[in-house]
Amino acid sequence: MSKILILGATSPIARALALRFAVDGAQLFLAARDPNEVGRVASDLSVRSGVPALSGTFDAADFAAHDAFIRDAATKLGGLDGVVVCFGTLGDEDAAQIDPAAALATVHQNFTGAVSLLTIAARHLEQQRSGFIIVIGSVAGDRGRARNYVYGSAKGALALFTQGLRGRLAKAGVHVMTVKLGTVDTRMTWGREGTMLTVAPVQAADSIYEAWRSRAEVVYVPWFWRVIMGVVQLIPERRFKRLTL
Ligand SMILES: NC(=O)c1ccc[n+]([C@@H]2O[C@H](COP(=O)([O-])OP(=O)(O)OC[C@H]3O[C@@H](n4cnc5c(N)ncnc54)[C@H](OP(=O)(O)O)[C@@H]3O)[C@@H](O)[C@H]2O)c1
Repeated sequence: MSKILILGATSPIARALALRFAVDGAQLFLAARDPNEVGRVASDLSVRSGVPALSGTFDAADFAAHDAFIRDAATKLGGLDGVVVCFGTLGDEDAAQIDPAAALATVHQNFTGAVSLLTIAARHLEQQRSGFIIVIGSVAGDRGRARNYVYGSAKGALALFTQGLRGRLAKAGVHVMTVKLGTVDTRMTWGREGTMLTVAPVQAADSIYEAWRSRAEVVYVPWFWRVIMGVVQLIPERRFKRLTL
């Protein structure tokens, strides 16, 4: 029975993904910031799957607590075979573009928090010489846009970090998958103008799960974002900077 830690487990994408793992018989430790909500999510998952799920809290920006948190999760699970990173926030992009504290908060919630937690988890998986990591990133990380470059740069850095980690952990037989997610209907996007080609969280989770089963390394979800971002990356910089994207 695999033992999987899901970080950002109250995300509806993470919830749907967790259910796929649980139905397959995995034992889960679900974690997010809000203790009541993550507890409710764990109870719901246990009822639906018939497999008891554990839960706990962490804060991506509380770096000093990460080592103890990962140890505690692994101890309670009785081991650790997989880690799913599904936490993140859009933050207040307008504030982040003028206030360094807001910019750093966005970067911690989307990048440096994941760097800290993954570095600790990777040590364990590398020593064990088995396991997997799934990192949910964003197509926003493929090109810096005037409208969301603080969030986008954090996701872009996360994709590069994950790429390097994949190279390192491949030698130990640990699979690392990067997900470049398009727009999904969650509280993160609710009510925002200009969102397009939005899919349901369950649809996104199903694609992520199938990609993981086929041992994909980098996957765009839904698939058509690979084409869209391929085109976006071809736009010359002098034109791109004038677009209101
Ligand atoms: N929705 C989209 O269109 C979209 C597109 C591309 C990528 N993504 C990415 O997909 C992932 C899931 O997002 P979502 O759309 O499902 O949003 P969501 O419903 O807001 O879920 C975000 C998750 O991150 C957790 N979280 C936020 N800040 C945290 C912190 N400082 N420390 C620990 N946990 C924290 C939240 O837990 P608490 O509630 O307890 O704070 C929640 O579990 C994110 O990485 C997001 O960037 C989403």
